[in-house]
Amino acid sequence: TNQLPSGYRMRPLVSSDYDKGVLDVLKVLTVVGNISRSQFVDQFNYWKSKKDMYHTLVVLNEQDRVVGCGTVLVESKLIHECGKVGHIEDIAVAKDQQGKKLGLRIINALTEIGRAQGCYKIILDCSEHNVKFYEKCGFTRGGAEMVLKF
Ligand code: ACO
Repeated sequence: TNQLPSGYRMRPLVSSDYDKGVLDVLKVLTVVGNISRSQFVDQFNYWKSKKDMYHTLVVLNEQDRVVGCGTVLVESKLIHECGKVGHIEDIAVAKDQQGKKLGLRIINALTEIGRAQGCYKIILDCSEHNVKFYEKCGFTRGGAEMVLKF
């Protein structure tokens, strides 16, 4: 089952979530910076224009505030007979909401989206600190992550 705490719900991101605290939630992950409403809406519309590629889910609490979010990016390839790979990105749960299985529920919902989109695998990068969390979500260690920073 994928049950949230009572009063909580999960749904796809909508552009009015700008006013519901989604950017504050992302600050637990990394630098977000100042994003205006129109920048947010433009990015949202860009994602929408890439049909079936970007899937962002949010969890809202009883007060209708965003307390968690996550994205799966569905990449279409040539290998594996023009197969698809899901990339899980930017999973964040508000600090005071961690430990309620919200992260696990988000990952489960995103992996179901990936499966429904026909992905043959789902991958993600995380810090060593989060390995146990992802193992509890059913993931296993894959290859090494490499990065080139600008
Ligand atoms: N170390 C060990 N176990 C953990 C950790 C951890 N860091 N985090 C969660 N767990 C365990 C929980 O104890 C729980 O175990 P249980 O089933 O035995 O009770 C299980 O994993 C599920 O935990 P949740 O309650 O679903 O975790 P939560 O809702 O707190 O979300 C998350 C986890 C997303 C990592 C959250 O702590 C967070 O937002 N952290 C800051 C941002 C971050 O690091 N995001 C992930 C970046 S990687 C990426 O985005 C691809």
